[in-house]
Amino acid sequence: MQDMIKLYMAPMEGPTGYVFRNAFNEVFGGIDRYFTPFVTGLNLGDKEKRDICPKNNAGMDVVTQILTRRTDEFLSVANFIHDEYGYERININLGCPSGTVVSRNRGAGFLAIPDELDRFLYEIFEKSPIKISLKTRIGVESTDEWDRLLSIYEKYPLDELIIHPRLRTDFYKNEIKTETFKKACEISKHSLCYNGDINTTEDFKRVTDEFTNIDAVMIGRGLLKNPFLIEEIRHSVDESAPLTPPDERDKKVKDFLRLLEKNYLASMPGGEKNTLAKLKELWVYLGEGRTDFKRALKEIKKARYLDEYHAAMSTVVIR
Ligand SMILES: Cc1cc2nc3c(=O)[nH]c(=O)nc-3n(C[C@H](O)[C@H](O)[C@H](O)COP(=O)(O)O)c2cc1C
Repeated sequence: MQDMIKLYMAPMEGPTGYVFRNAFNEVFGGIDRYFTPFVTGLNLGDKEKRDICPKNNAGMDVVTQILTRRTDEFLSVANFIHDEYGYERININLGCPSGTVVSRNRGAGFLAIPDELDRFLYEIFEKSPIKISLKTRIGVESTDEWDRLLSIYEKYPLDELIIHPRLRTDFYKNEIKTETFKKACEISKHSLCYNGDINTTEDFKRVTDEFTNIDAVMIGRGLLKNPFLIEEIRHSVDESAPLTPPDERDKKVKDFLRLLEKNYLASMPGGEKNTLAKLKELWVYLGEGRTDFKRALKEIKKARYLDEYHAAMSTVVIR
């Protein structure tokens, strides 16, 4: 069973736009499906179009994620990406915990009004030109909410159900609610994807041993901390899957970072300053728990120009 499990990259507003996805795919690869950070509104903006258009996502299976509670917005975007871009699926964000999103009953805030969520799903499934998957938390404030939410999800022909087993009030911390996720495994007829806190091959093994009927796992921060995680997982399942030798890991990550830098510089307004901000954001993850390059991280954080950043980066060896 394990070797059949698909590996997805989680959508992460900020780090995982198309420049990142392309560089990751070119240097590390191994991802079965990527999800874009969420888009909003009736019509896509230029930045959103750049992020999701097929020309900027060649060679990857990419699913657009939308954050909305409005049928007209959903249909407008679903029709557009289907008609203009030829996409066959779309994903709905039912997990974003941010205050401004939740206060408008969007993202995880939509889970607080299950009757409306049910009505919304009924309407969009009537009219959507493409397959719909959901990425959901298990409730807003209490795991007691999950039974009702799951019973709603079971009514519709979802493409897949991606579950991050935390409440909105957990944000991205606190323990994963394993028992609540298990209920979905027992009851759901949907293709299930587990998401949350997979940072090592051991985490992957624990999740796939415990939840034997999932079809996919989605990984977010774990890939930013360790971009070799996908190949490590694949190797742990099948010893013949390639693994980068330890003495080549540093070069590979630096090649990736240089490619990112080149492509950010070419694609972003604000050139050097915004490119540096993007790279620094990534280094926060790459440096997490790495006492060996604490000093270099400080220098990277302080860097005002790419020259200063390069000098700091050259003192780091990534293992
Ligand atoms: C910086 C950041 C941005 C995120 N942006 C999105 C987003 O746009 N859409 C979404 O569904 N989830 C978003 N998430 C949540 C992740 O997709 C994922 O569910 C979460 O990080 C838990 O998975 P992980 O433990 O593997 O990171 C974001 C998370 C982070 C840390």
